[in-house]
Amino acid sequence: MLAATPISDGVDLYDKLAPRYDKLHHRWLRHAGGEAQAALEGLVRALATPNSNFLDAGCGTGKLARSLIAEGMRPSLMTLLDPSAAMLARCADIPVPKIRGRLESLPFEDGAFDLVTCVWALETVPDPLLALVELCRVVRPGGALCLAFCADEPARGLADRLMRQALLFRGTGRFLSRSRLVRAIESFGDLEVRAVPSHGPASTLLVKRSGATSRAPW
Ligand SMILES: C[S@@+](CC[C@H](N)C(=O)[O-])C[C@H]1O[C@@H](n2cnc3c(N)ncnc32)[C@H](O)[C@@H]1O
Repeated sequence: MLAATPISDGVDLYDKLAPRYDKLHHRWLRHAGGEAQAALEGLVRALATPNSNFLDAGCGTGKLARSLIAEGMRPSLMTLLDPSAAMLARCADIPVPKIRGRLESLPFEDGAFDLVTCVWALETVPDPLLALVELCRVVRPGGALCLAFCADEPARGLADRLMRQALLFRGTGRFLSRSRLVRAIESFGDLEVRAVPSHGPASTLLVKRSGATSRAPW
């Protein structure tokens, strides 16, 4: 078990939340997840090249993809995936393939991507372990997976605690155990995991698959 709290499928909930999502999520980032988000974005900027074949799995309203395109990443090498039609509809302005699909059964070949991100989505699925297996499967040898997720870390104060309660109350996610998650990934073999330090009830991980680095020189 990667989390103490079980969760049911939340796609309907995200369909309903889509029009208000950016506003609600901004509040989460401001009060609780901001450091983990900044760490994630730092990793992606360090690892991405204009030629990286990139997947954002659980892309939501497409904020990360928009900023990467603005910074020079080629949309032709980018794929967005989310099971919520309403969330994907919010990505309509992004000129990339958008796939309605789930983390637990990614519709891609093994090793299809140089760089995969999954940002605040792993904790929303009923079986995060299966989702992790799939996310790692689609990373090519020498490629990387960057994860940010709500983590069962000590709250820093009242704001953290309130954000945590709000998220649990809405049922849009739960808090995963970072140490269990790291152990699970390490058990898959040929993957190296590093946690990027941050404060708050959130965590950022860099997962690198060993192997050739010829497709993206980093
Ligand atoms: C908290 S939002 C994060 C969105 C975006 N990554 C961000 O950083 O703002 C969680 C997203 O995960 C999606 N999601 C829910 N269940 C999923 C599943 N089984 N597979 C993939 N994505 C899922 C939701 O539709 C939603 O867009």
